[in-house]
Amino acid sequence: MATSTSVVVIPGDGIGPEIWAASKPVLDAAIGRTGGGAITWEEWPAGERGMEESGDPLPRTTLEAITRHRVALKGPLTTPVGSGFRSLNVQLRLHFDLYANVRPIHWLPGISSPVRHPELVDAVLFRENTEDVYAGFELEPGTPELLALAAFVRERFRWPIPADAGVGLKPISESASKRLVRAALRFAVREKRKSVTLVHKGNIQKFTEGRFRAWGYEVATQEFADECRVEGVDPDDGRIVVRDLLADAFLQEILVHPERIDVVATTNLNGDYMSESLAAQVGGVGVAPGGNINEEAGRAIFEPAHGTAPGIVGQDIANPIAMLLSGAMLLEFIDRRPAADLVRGAVRSVLSLGVGTPDLGLAEQVGTKAFGERVVAAV
Ligand code: NAI
Repeated sequence: MATSTSVVVIPGDGIGPEIWAASKPVLDAAIGRTGGGAITWEEWPAGERGMEESGDPLPRTTLEAITRHRVALKGPLTTPVGSGFRSLNVQLRLHFDLYANVRPIHWLPGISSPVRHPELVDAVLFRENTEDVYAGFELEPGTPELLALAAFVRERFRWPIPADAGVGLKPISESASKRLVRAALRFAVREKRKSVTLVHKGNIQKFTEGRFRAWGYEVATQEFADECRVEGVDPDDGRIVVRDLLADAFLQEILVHPERIDVVATTNLNGDYMSESLAAQVGGVGVAPGGNINEEAGRAIFEPAHGTAPGIVGQDIANPIAMLLSGAMLLEFIDRRPAADLVRGAVRSVLSLGVGTPDLGLAEQVGTKAFGERVVAAV
């Protein structure tokens, strides 16, 4: 784990600056109470603020600051609409090779949910962050490049690509799959979790999703044999269970038997759908934190799962919980676990009193700033 006393903060666009303003005093209070020295939050622009200040939504100086400090907390960013412009979030993940998107998903007291037992959801999802259909290898219908590719595969493999089709490539590599599953297994061992489920569509996509499953089991059996056992193969002797599920079966299982889902490792596109679906089960993305992590490099960017929420900017009603919990993940990453636990406990205790921002529909509705103050008091 990295240790650091200076971290980068990108407050971001839309509601970003408001939720950061409410979160910073909470994080500082938790750090102050648990010791270990203060943390300097170095603010840098990106997104619209980057455009305003330097004409670049991802300024070089911001990237350099992240390179220097290794760890960042990022608010939501508006990706400028325009042809060929790649999502700033995807750019950041690829630039720093933050290969694991980590999303802890569990219910918080009082938050309304569309399911009967949201308290049974306690999952940590590891989504591969660098390849799959997100690699950006796509060709537009009718372009000379696609016509050339279609002619080649028709001749070489007898694959009949319709003349009016667009085509995207889905690279899934052994190295990227294995390091992602390794990160999930390491986490499961460290946090004494019950199981790791590899989620894939290997029945249909044998050489991509199917290989992800096979490589996942290879890592488990070759590198974690002392700590993990394969379900249905090894005897139940208290080791962490490693198993796999098809993505469709997974989406059924999280609704019918959420208690069976613990740590999850999956490919990029599956993980995108699954993390939003799981987040909805516990009350939506307004309270969902996340981290983009390369543990070996000691580099990570933590961020709320939600966007800039343009409809509620400047009204002091945005929910800062996802930002607060992303900050807690950051504190844990830089070896400030007691402070991280204090932040999480304080958020839970304020919610337990029935206090929350309007989106949560709790008994006492308070603004963004006031909610932050209540959490500071709880700390
Ligand atoms: P959104 O997450 O911003 O909003 C969806 C809905 O949730 C809206 O009704 C919004 O008011 C509400 N909401 C979101 N966060 C909330 C919070 N903390 N408290 C209370 N309510 C909250 O998603 P949308 O509308 O699809 O995207 C808006 C902009 O955000 C777009 O420009 C998009 O590109 C960007 N975006 C950025 C992300 C990031 O930087 N990680 C992630 C998702 C979207």
